[in-house]
Amino acid sequence: MEPNDYIEANRIMWNETADVHALGYVTELQKAIQAPNFSTFDEVEKRLFAQIELSGKAVIQLGCNNGRELISVKKAGAGRCVGIDVSDKFIAQGRQLAGLAHVAVEFVRSSVYDLGPEWEGQFDLVYVTIGVLGWLPDLDGFFGVVSRLLRRDGQLFLYDMHPILNMFEVDKGLVVEASYFQREPFVDGEEPDYMNPTQVVKAVSYWFPHTLSEIIGGCLKHGLQLTHFEEYEHDLSMVYAAFEQLAKKPPLSYSLVARKTL
Ligand SMILES: C[S@@+](CC[C@H](N)C(=O)[O-])C[C@H]1O[C@@H](n2cnc3c(N)ncnc32)[C@H](O)[C@@H]1O
Repeated sequence: MEPNDYIEANRIMWNETADVHALGYVTELQKAIQAPNFSTFDEVEKRLFAQIELSGKAVIQLGCNNGRELISVKKAGAGRCVGIDVSDKFIAQGRQLAGLAHVAVEFVRSSVYDLGPEWEGQFDLVYVTIGVLGWLPDLDGFFGVVSRLLRRDGQLFLYDMHPILNMFEVDKGLVVEASYFQREPFVDGEEPDYMNPTQVVKAVSYWFPHTLSEIIGGCLKHGLQLTHFEEYEHDLSMVYAAFEQLAKKPPLSYSLVARKTL
């Protein structure tokens, strides 16, 4: 398969997932997002966004899903906010949620790899949260896109599940099921939805494991100098939440901030 074939398969799976989320979760979000103090930020994001200083900044979120996090960024004082997602249906949900929240957020349906030169150098911050990198077949290409989107001195804020989790299946505990250095994608289909495990998402999808050194190295190669990196004992994925209760834990998540110096 070519990279675009994987991305297209994943787009179909994410559209099916959006339909599942529309059955319940989005209805709750439609109500919650109208509250003036609505925010998805946890303690890590509150602390890091305070350091980054969101006020007036032009922000682009890659893999924005239904936009709830980007709407929180806008409500926290950011300037122009643009959400990019490959799923038509999540982009439609984002537009609707931003309308209900009465905030001006632009939503664009696109694969991150298809963002052309018209997007270059426009943003102070690229925001990427839990569960985006694994859908991307070409991580080096992705960090090239991130770097091009940023102005000089612009920053990347990445907050994601820890890649060591790709070695484990949550219901088997800390039994190594896959090499940390696996190159081939994990192929899934007929999987319980991560928000609503009683619903099954049928479409086949492809998840690409990337090592921490590929993530950090990808930043450095594209002129993104790390200014912050931390690992955490809390889970962001919902899939690995049970690991929070283990006495001897692997790292479950991490945050990374990098500044474009080129
Ligand atoms: C796990 S979700 C992100 C969830 C988000 N952090 C949240 O909590 O709402 C991953 C998102 O990445 C998007 N995605 C996957 N491949 C993509 C690509 N090539 N370009 C843009 N978005 C992509 C999916 O459509 C999906 O909405």
